[in-house]
Amino acid sequence: MTARELKVPGIAYGGDYNPEQWPEEVWAEDVRLMREAGVTMVSVNIFAWALLEPKEGAYDFSRLDRILALLHENGIAADLATPTAAPPAWFFRAHPDALPVDRDGRTLSYGSRQTFCPSSPAYREAALRIARVLGERYADHPAVVMWHIHNEYGCHNAECYCDTSAAAFRVWLRQKYDDDLAALNHAWGTTFWSQWYYDWDEIIPPRPTGAVPNPTHQLDWRRFCSDALLSLCKAEREVLREAAPSTPATTNFMVMYNFDKLDYWRWAPELDIVSNDHYLQSTDPESQIDIALSGDLVRSLAGGRPWLLMEHSTGAVNWQPVNRAKTAGELRRNALAHVARGADGIAYFQWRAAKAGAEQWHSAMLPHAGTDSQIWRDVVRLGADLRSLAEVRGSAGVAEVAIVWDWSAWWAVELPSQPSGEVRFQDLVRAWYEPLWRSGVAVDFVRPDADLSPYKLVLAPSLYLVDDEGAANLTGFAEAGGTLAVGFHSGAVDENGHVRLGGYPGAFREALGVRTDELFPLLPGESVDLAGLDEGAAGEVWSERMALAGAEPIATYASGPLHGVPAVTRHTHGSGTAWYVATRPDPTTLASLLDRIRDEAGVKPVRETPEGVEAVLRRGPDADFLFLINHGDQVAEVEVSGAATELLTGGGVEGRAVRVAPGDVVVVREPRDG
Ligand code: GAL
Repeated sequence: MTARELKVPGIAYGGDYNPEQWPEEVWAEDVRLMREAGVTMVSVNIFAWALLEPKEGAYDFSRLDRILALLHENGIAADLATPTAAPPAWFFRAHPDALPVDRDGRTLSYGSRQTFCPSSPAYREAALRIARVLGERYADHPAVVMWHIHNEYGCHNAECYCDTSAAAFRVWLRQKYDDDLAALNHAWGTTFWSQWYYDWDEIIPPRPTGAVPNPTHQLDWRRFCSDALLSLCKAEREVLREAAPSTPATTNFMVMYNFDKLDYWRWAPELDIVSNDHYLQSTDPESQIDIALSGDLVRSLAGGRPWLLMEHSTGAVNWQPVNRAKTAGELRRNALAHVARGADGIAYFQWRAAKAGAEQWHSAMLPHAGTDSQIWRDVVRLGADLRSLAEVRGSAGVAEVAIVWDWSAWWAVELPSQPSGEVRFQDLVRAWYEPLWRSGVAVDFVRPDADLSPYKLVLAPSLYLVDDEGAANLTGFAEAGGTLAVGFHSGAVDENGHVRLGGYPGAFREALGVRTDELFPLLPGESVDLAGLDEGAAGEVWSERMALAGAEPIATYASGPLHGVPAVTRHTHGSGTAWYVATRPDPTTLASLLDRIRDEAGVKPVRETPEGVEAVLRRGPDADFLFLINHGDQVAEVEVSGAATELLTGGGVEGRAVRVAPGDVVVVREPRDG
C-alpha cells in the first residue's frame, strides 16, 4: 500500500514515555533503564500540548528538543505524537463552543482529556496548526520514525450532541443523500410517527426524546460520528505527510471489549501502519481469548500485514471497578500472544508509573517500586525475548476460516426496540470464536463484501444488518463451493435497517433453504432443549418458528412452544453448504457443532495441541514460526516439523516434539522446503 515503513529493526519494544511529567534529572535514568530493558521505540508528546503551546500561536519546543535528542543519543526511536487529544485550558477559554455536549445536553468541562467537540472548527484549526508546526519542526529529526496521530480517537468524545455537531451531521447527510431530502426521508422511514422532514435544518442529533428514536436516524448518527473523527485523523495525516512525506503515520485503535464507536474498516486503509491498544478485563477469566480475537481482528484490519501493539499493561490498570494485577508469567504470555497474532511491535502504557495525576495507580514498565520488582524483571526478560524473535518481523498469518465482522451490523442489532435486548454482537462473535481458539484453528475477520476466495469456511455469528452486495458476496461464496454458517437474526435488515420482507432470515433465506415466519426470543435465563446434537444440548437467547425450504434439519427444539421445529439446519447451496444456527447453543454444544462444520469444510487446526495450549502460526518467506503458549498447568509436548529451532532459547529441537512448561511460551522456527 505504501513505502512508508517503520524503520525500527526486529520487533519494536517500548511504551508511552511522558518525561514532561518528571524533573529532568530523572530522564538520564529513564534512558539508561530503557537500554537495559532493550527498549527500541517510545511514544512521546501524546499529552504535551499545554507545555508546547503555552498560549495560542506561541511555542516552546525546547523540552521536546531535549527529549528527542536524548532518545536519539541513546539509540531509541521516537514515535512522535501530535498532542491533539488534550487541548490546553486556554484553548477552551478562548473557544467555549468547542466543548462537547453529552447526550443529556450537559456541556462537559475541560480538566481531563478529549473534551472537545469533533466537529468544532476552532478545534480543527488549532489541532492542525500544532500538527503542522510539529511536523515541520521534526520532519527530518533522526529520532523520529513514526507519527502517532492523536490518541485513541473517540475514547471519551465519540459522540457530541451540540449544535455545531448537529450542523456537521446535516452536511454529512446532505452528502450521503445527494442533497435529496426525500431520499433521506425514505431511507429513514419518516412517514412513521410523523417524522417527515421538510427542511434539512429540522434534522438534529438523536437527542433524548419521549419515546424510541428513529432507528435509521440513530444508525446514520453512529456512522457520522465515526466519520467526523476520521476526518480529523485524515486532516492531521495530510499535514504531517506534507511535512514529512516518507514518515509513516498511525493512530492507536481500541479494538477491545465494549468499544464500538468507530468503524475501523473505514479507518484502517487511511493509515500507513495499523496499531492497537489492548487491555484485559479483570472480570474475564479467559482473557487470552480476548487477546487472540482482538489480535486477529487488528491483523485483518491491517489487510493481513503486521501491526503494532501500541498499548497494553504490565499489570493492573486504574479504570475498572477492581484492577487486577497480572499473575506470574502473564505479562510475557500476553505480549508474545500479540506477536503471535501478527504484532511487529510491543508497547505499554506507560514507561514510568506516574506519581501524580489521574493514572497514578496504573501499572507501568518501571513500577513505583523501582527496578527491584517482578514487573521490572519481567520487562527486561521480555526485551530479550523480543530480540530473539527479530526474524519473525514481517511474517503473516494464514487462515482458512473467516468470521464476518461489521460495525453497522453491531450498532443496528443493539439499537433499542429489537425483538430482544439480549442479543449482543460481540458476545456472539466471541462465543463462536472461542471453540475455534480452543481447537487451534486460525481465523481472519472480514467485511461482508470481502474477497472470500482464500477461505474454506466463513462464519457470520451475528449479521443482523447486511446490504445486498454483502449478502450476495456471502451466499455466492457458498454457491461457489464454500461452507457458510450463519447465526440467528442475521440478514434481517438492509443497510438502512429496513426489514427484508417475505420471512426471516431475510437476505440469507434462499441460501440457507429455510423460512421463518415468527421470532420467539427467550427470556434472560430461559433455555430450550435441543434434540439431534449433544446429550443435554440447550439453546439460549433465541428461537424462531422456522420451516424447511430445502435444508435438512440437524437439530430441533425439544421443549417449549416450538417443540419439533428445526433449530439448526444444513443446506446444499450451489456446490457449497450453508448452515443456519437459529439459537445460541450452550458452549459445549456450539463447540461440537462448529467442530463438525469445520471438519466437513476440511479446515484443520494449526497444530494438534493438548488442552490449554494455544498454537498460532506466522508464515515467513522460507519458514513458519509456530508460537505455543501454555495456559494450562501441565507440561505439554507438541509435534514440530524436522530441522526446527527454538527461537526464545536459541536451541535446536531434539526429536520431533517440543516441551512447553505450564505458563511458558515456546516459539519454533520450522523451515519450509522449496
Ligand atoms: C488508554 C490511553 C492511555 C492510558 C491508558 C490507561 O486508553 O490511550 O493514555 O490512559 O488507556 O489504561
